[in-house]
Order: sequence, then C-alpha cells, then structure tokens
Amino acid sequence: MAEQKPVTLEQHLAASGADKKLQKLISSFAYVALDAQHQFPKYLRGTMGDRNKYGEAVAALDEWVNGYLCDSLVKTGLVRKIYSEELKEPLLAHNDAPFVVAMDPLDGSSNIVSNNAFGTIVGVYRDDLPQTGRKLVAAFYKLYGPVNTFVYTVGKGTHEFVKHYDSEGRAQFLLLADNMKIPEPGEVFGLGGDPVDWSPLFLRFGKDLFKKERMKARYSGTFVADFSQVLHRGGIFAYPSTKKSPRGKLRLYYEAQPMAFLMEQAGGESWSGSSSLLDVVDNDVDARVPLYMGSRALVKKVMTALNGMTVNHTPTTIVKK
Ligand code: F6P
Ligand code: MN
Repeated sequence: MAEQKPVTLEQHLAASGADKKLQKLISSFAYVALDAQHQFPKYLRGTMGDRNKYGEAVAALDEWVNGYLCDSLVKTGLVRKIYSEELKEPLLAHNDAPFVVAMDPLDGSSNIVSNNAFGTIVGVYRDDLPQTGRKLVAAFYKLYGPVNTFVYTVGKGTHEFVKHYDSEGRAQFLLLADNMKIPEPGEVFGLGGDPVDWSPLFLRFGKDLFKKERMKARYSGTFVADFSQVLHRGGIFAYPSTKKSPRGKLRLYYEAQPMAFLMEQAGGESWSGSSSLLDVVDNDVDARVPLYMGSRALVKKVMTALNGMTVNHTPTTIVKK
C-alpha cells in the first residue's frame, strides 16, 4: 500500500476554514518559535539581574525569547497589541491589524538550567483584553522537548504537529495527532504548589489520586510539558488555590485561558474553582487564577472534593460584555 503523504501545518490550517490572516499568524509563529530554539544555547546561563512584574528573577533566556517573539509577531503585520508575561506594559504594534495576542514566551524557565522541557503559550483574540476565554479565536503552544511539537486550536479540535526536516534541510511541521481526544479515565497527574499549603480537602484529593485512582505522579515544573502528558495519557493537572496564594500561581490570560481552550477542544474540562477557566474574566491582565484541568471525570472529582471550600479568586471587576 502506498504511504500517505503527511499533512503539513499549512495544509491543515487551510482545511480548518479559519480566516486566512489567522492561518498566516499561526503558521508564521510556529516557524518563528522554531528559529528561536536554535538560539537558546547562547542564553542558557545567567539572569538579567532584573525582576519581572511579579518580582521573579528574569532569566537571560526569558528576556531574549520575549524580545525575539515580540519582534517577530510585530513583523507579521497581523498583530495590534501584545500582552506578555515578560512585558510591564502591553506592546502596541499595528493600529489596524486584526489580532491581539497574550503570551507566556518561555513557560517553565526554572527548567532552563537543567535542560528539562519548556514551552511557549499563545492566545489570540480579535478584541482587546480583558475578555473571557470564550473570545479566543486561536490558542497554541510550542513544547521544546526531545522533539519540537506545536499544538493548536481554532475552535475545531486540538491538533499536534512535529518538526521534521525535508531532504533539503528545510523545517516543516507535519501532523502527528489530528483532533486529539484526552483519554478517560486518566493515568497521570501533576499538582503544583507546596502540599503544606494545600487545603485539607485538596490534600485528600491528591492522596486519593495515588491510593484510590492508582494514578502516577508526573510533575516537571513546566506547565506546557505537564499539560502535554495529561493531554496524551489522560489525567489531571492542577495549580490550586493555597493558603499562601489563594489565586494559585498561573496567569489567567498568558497561561490558563489558552491552555483551557486547547483542553476543552480535546474533550477535557477546565475549572477555576468556580467555573470553566474560559468563563473567567479579570480587569487585571496580569491576574493569577487557580487552575484545574484534564480528563472530565477527574475534574468532576476535584470539583466534588473541593465543594464547600471558598476559593478566593473572585475577579476584581467583572467586565460586562
Ligand atoms: O509559569 C509558571 C510555571 O513555571 C509553570 O510552568 C509551572 O507549572 C509552575 O510555574 C511551576 O511552579 P513551581 O515551581 O511552584 O512548581
Ligand atoms: Mn509560565
């Protein structure tokens, strides 16, 4: 039997029927982020001696990747405004361009020094933030692991591509998994935050994952990498509300919403402690949010387990749309 020709990212995007400009933005980003990885070795050591808006040390690579990705996004001519975890103020690009982007340019930067996987997360909106995740027109991530994968959604399923080189040495993203469906029941879990700080109810839920569900613990410290395990093998990832950090650690617009869009498009579920992460809106673009996502049955279990616990992440102001 003749081997079927692999589907390229560009062909897949064309078949999705997404707006042509959105297709262009997604494919240019996949290749830009690819070029970026070639430069990583130069920036592996050191910090900028600076703190970001959350008071965290900025790794040299964080700073460089952010600049590189922002410049490349501006060059596409398709972006009006860029919100980034590493920018103190949003970057104003082209006034009449169709898209607003929110990104975490380098997710999992504590893993740089040990050469564990890290990633890039992007959400694309037409209208400016603040918005609920329901207004996302696309979300995607890059996972810089042993292989380089690109996972995207435009609201018609979640699809995974992997970088290959053709015979002339040109990079290409080829389809690896079309219309992904998160396995049920789940096999792995990753729970962030200090267990000493977890609520007693969440601690019990965590113990039950070992004892009752007989699942395996998998926590790398990079959200993109842990998300990818859960997406492929089924399970749950959470960075919960804790005593010290009632709103958890992960950022609503740069991390939670794009990943919730990808998760829900793969048949999984997301939860903020009170609703789907896609229904949360916050006037503070840098806001954090408690995050629970994965296979449906497990997210339902965490909802039941935490039922009655007060999750203090109420947005400062709800924007009425
Ligand atoms: O972006 C924040 C982040 O680096 C995520 O990638 C990851 O899930 C989390 O923080 C790890 O936090 P901790 O070091 O507290 O486990
Ligand atoms: Mn991150």
